[in-house]
Amino acid sequence: MTESLSVRVWRTLFGFVLLPSLIACSGNNNGATANVTSGPLAFRQGCGRCHLPPKPSAHRVNEWPRVIARMQQHMATQGKAPLTAEQSAEILDYLTSHALGTS
Ligand code: HEC
Repeated sequence: MTESLSVRVWRTLFGFVLLPSLIACSGNNNGATANVTSGPLAFRQGCGRCHLPPKPSAHRVNEWPRVIARMQQHMATQGKAPLTAEQSAEILDYLTSHALGTS
């Protein structure tokens, strides 16, 4: 018997639960934009490449398609990979279901 069960439990908790959450909390989130961990993966990855992903409440439902279309142009001019049709549909769905005026 080298160490008690509770020591092992605490070590496991620290390694797998506390440490990763400390690291995750050190990320930059100044509150001006949505938390980067929220929203579908396509949104977090596709809309977080040039700036932090925007808040869905930044625009109305009918404005988001135009914003996304403009972002696609930025991707083209900056030589970034364009969104697939599937990704832009998922992003539009997420943004419009949380957009300004929907809650
Ligand atoms: C290729 C880089 C790039 C990517 C990727 C990108 N953006 Fe942008 N975004 C920009 C630039 C540059 C601006 C500032 C100029 C402008 O507003 O067009 C901007 C500004 C914005 C703004 C603030 C202006 C406004 O109309 O409210 C929003 C909101 C926005 N982006 C949303 C998005 C969303 C949603 C995505 C994912 C579909 C995205 N962006 C992906 C480059 C990018």
